[in-house]
Amino acid sequence: MIFKNIPLGKYNTFGLNYKAEFMIQIETEEEATDIFHKNNTLKKPLLILGGGSNILFTSDYRGTILYPQIGGMKVEKEEADNGYIIVSAGAGVNWDDFVAWSVNEGFGGIENLSLIPGKAGATPVQNIGAYGVEVKESILRVKTINISDGSVRIFRNDECAFGYRNSIFKNSEKGKYLVTRVYYKLSVKPLLNLSYESLKEEVNKLGETTLKNVRQAVINIRRSKLPDPEITGNAGSFFKNPVVKNSVAEVLQNEFPGMPVYRDTEGYSKLASGWLIDQCGWKGKRYGDAGVHEKQALVLVNYGKATGIEIYGLSEDIKKSVLDKFGIRLEREVEVVGVI
Ligand code: EPU
Repeated sequence: MIFKNIPLGKYNTFGLNYKAEFMIQIETEEEATDIFHKNNTLKKPLLILGGGSNILFTSDYRGTILYPQIGGMKVEKEEADNGYIIVSAGAGVNWDDFVAWSVNEGFGGIENLSLIPGKAGATPVQNIGAYGVEVKESILRVKTINISDGSVRIFRNDECAFGYRNSIFKNSEKGKYLVTRVYYKLSVKPLLNLSYESLKEEVNKLGETTLKNVRQAVINIRRSKLPDPEITGNAGSFFKNPVVKNSVAEVLQNEFPGMPVYRDTEGYSKLASGWLIDQCGWKGKRYGDAGVHEKQALVLVNYGKATGIEIYGLSEDIKKSVLDKFGIRLEREVEVVGVI
């Protein structure tokens, strides 16, 4: 279905009410194929929008937004003897509904990713992660449709070039494929990941170490630290955590004792952007209705009437002060779409 001049307020978790010139809501894979067969009739540029939980609009969108609503979560194949099961979710399935369903069924692997806003279709694009787990560990394959001609292409996990909040769909293949369905390989004898210390503590408070308690503990931690986008507009972490050479991390740690440093790939360390921003004094600061969350400095919020430009401006000032104090260049995790 094609809509014209659609207000985007309810399509992005910052709640920014810019307009899209055209929006096509895609309900089935067949519909997607039909639409892309006639690609040359679509008003360009095209933008694929999932849950809108990782996007900052800064102006009206003059082009066509593709909004996949393909539903359905199901068991594809039981390999219980081997300890796993293959399940799939349509691109438009709410991610946390899918996690809740999996946990209820006793399937493990994505419980640490509870309550992450957004749709299943965006999970491989962004390689979502939290509390020591990334979704790439559970993704088996990703079914897509080529936007230029409507042909189907399936990407195996090893073809997705997954990285930290990154994949082929954000790089060489950006904007070329619409994800229609994602297949996950989950475990029927879950090995729970409690490597994240505060998660372990929260699970212990709840009692036994079970799949359901891990999900509940993640929900409790997220609710205590992160603003609910239904109430206060936000897009989760606004910046990525920077990865630097070990030598850079060591120098900084000597100068700033107490700075959190996590081991990354061989020779590299990951720093905590939230800590860096907090140390620059930004926590709780506001520019009108654009602000830095008071409990997690990595999260920028819209207290009501902020514009995308104001939030962008705040993020630029944050970047500048972190660069001045620590010599670290923060990179946005959120995608900025529009005129700046
Ligand atoms: N910290 C501060 N002040 C702050 C925020 C954080 O000092 O205002 C410190 C914390 O005390 C901690 C460290 O910084 O020592 C890291 O903070 P936290 O554990 O809250 O996690 P994060 O690095 O800020 C990342 C992900 C989150 C994910 C959490 C939990 C990124 C960019 N963010 O945040 O993902 O939920 O870890 O695993 O990797 C998202 O991507 O949108 C997101 C919310």
